Order: sequence, then structure tokens, then C-alpha cells
Amino acid sequence: MDIKDIGVVVTGGGSGLGEATIRAFAGRGARVAILDLASSRGGELAAEIGGSAIFAEADVTSEEQVEAALERASGGLGGIHVVVNCAGVATASKTVASDGQPASLAAFRRTVEINLIGTFNVIRLAAARMVKNQPNADGERGVFINTASVAAYEGQIGQAAYAASKGGVVAMTLPIARDLARDGVRCCTIAPGLFLTPMLLGLPEPARQALGSLTPFPSRLGHPEEYARLAMHIVENPMLNGETIRLDGALRLPPK
Ligand SMILES: NC(=O)c1ccc[n+]([C@@H]2O[C@H](COP(=O)([O-])OP(=O)(O)OC[C@H]3O[C@@H](n4cnc5c(N)ncnc54)[C@H](O)[C@@H]3O)[C@@H](O)[C@H]2O)c1
Repeated sequence: MDIKDIGVVVTGGGSGLGEATIRAFAGRGARVAILDLASSRGGELAAEIGGSAIFAEADVTSEEQVEAALERASGGLGGIHVVVNCAGVATASKTVASDGQPASLAAFRRTVEINLIGTFNVIRLAAARMVKNQPNADGERGVFINTASVAAYEGQIGQAAYAASKGGVVAMTLPIARDLARDGVRCCTIAPGLFLTPMLLGLPEPARQALGSLTPFPSRLGHPEEYARLAMHIVENPMLNGETIRLDGALRLPPK
């Protein structure tokens, strides 16, 4: 699918990987909508990008808020052709803490609610709109790109909830692609390694370098623009479908 003039919604588009994706698609002539929390920087970013850029505030776990945000985005962008799901939270908690307390079930549920169920909530509501798009010359009506993590495959100590939520995103990629195939809608997932986003920006430089050195090559943290480049490639390459692509410089996370 050509990027110019398509409507692109990025959840979690106000920060980090999502922000880089918004900037990259807007830079290539797409119309963009940032779907993010009211407390995010989404409004400022939309104003900075200007043109037809929209901030459509929503919590991805809310059926009503996501439906309203998609309605707004669809009207403002002239249709939704691509959704990139970047909204997510990184949580850490051991199954049994060092003081003997079992992990909080509410915290586990919340992580799965945002990262996995929130992703599916956006997909199902956006897909119901996409399947009504006019197909392009290749029969394509839309593309979904989700964000898992290498933790889906080798979650570290404390990552049971995070890894479970991202493993769910990987597992649902193929069945969603199969569900939507007859409508010409594709679904892929990116599983990033360690990327320099606000999540990691707060760490002191030595800690960042230590994390970066875990990656065999290039031995550094990933740049959010590198995630955005893969997202754009997935949109442009119609044979990519139903697959999760690791974007990690050959990183395999150690136990801790
Ligand atoms: N940065 C990394 O190294 C890395 C590695 C692997 C996977 N990821 C995944 O990439 C995605 C983006 O991460 P990031 O590093 O850019 O993080 P980030 O914290 O910079 O951005 C996350 C965005 O999601 C939004 N968000 C959080 N909860 C939301 C909700 N309920 N509804 C709507 N928006 C919500 C936040 O407001 C924020 O703008 C996440 O899913 C994360 O798990 C990141």
C-alpha cells in the first residue's frame, strides 16, 4: 500500500515508538491521528505536525472511548487505512516478592488489559471500518501493525505479566490476519528489542550503555525511527502478513 495520502492511526502515538511512527508517516505524506491518553503529549505533537494531524484521545481499554476516537480520526483523515498499535505499559513484578508476598493479581490483569486486550479492542473496532474501505488496485483495504516485544519469547525475571501480554499479541497475529484476509486487510506484529524511548531515557548513561551492549550488533539501543522504518515497510510490502518480525539486533534477553 502506498503511504502518501492514506489515513494512519497510531495508538500510544504521543511518545516513544508511536511518536516516531507518527512523524515518519506524516513525513511521507500520510494523514495521521494520535490515539493516546488525555495525559499524554498527543495534543502538542498533533499541533506541532500541523496540517491534518489529529489528537484523538482515548484509553485503549475503553470500548466507548476507542470507538469515539476512531470516528473522529476517520472523519478527520478521510478514512483509516493503517493502524499501528504502540500503546502499552512495561511492568515488572516477581511471582513471589523477596518478602514472600505473592504478585498482585490486579497488576497482572491491568498489564494484560492494556497491552493485549487494548490492542485487540482497537483492532476489532478499526477493522469493522477498514473492511468497508474501497480496495486499492492490489485489493488491499488496510493494514494492522502491532507491537509485541522480545519478552514474548524470553521474558526476564519479573516479566510474567508483560511477557504474557506480549505473547498474546504474537499469538493473535496469525488468526487476525486469517480472519481479515478475505477483506484484503493484513496484520503483522513487530517484536522490538531494546529501544531508546522515554521508558529508558530516564536511566543514567552508564545504565543505557550496559543495556545497549546486550545487543550483539549494532551494540546499542535501537532508535525509534528504526521501528518506524519497519512499520512503513510492512505497509508498503503486501506479502508481509500474519507474521511477527523481531527488530532486535540479534538480542536474546538474559534471565535478568
Ligand atoms: N522501548 C522499548 O525498548 C520497547 C521494547 C519492546 C517493546 N516495546 C513496546 O513498544 C510500545 C511503545 O513503547 P515505548 O517505549 O514507545 O513507550 P512509551 O511509554 O514512550 O509510550 C507508550 C505510549 O502508550 C500510551 N498509553 C499507555 N497506556 C495507554 C492506554 N491505556 N491507552 C492509550 N494509550 C496508552 C502512553 O500514554 C504513551 O504515549 C509498548 O507497547 C512497549 O511495550 C518497547
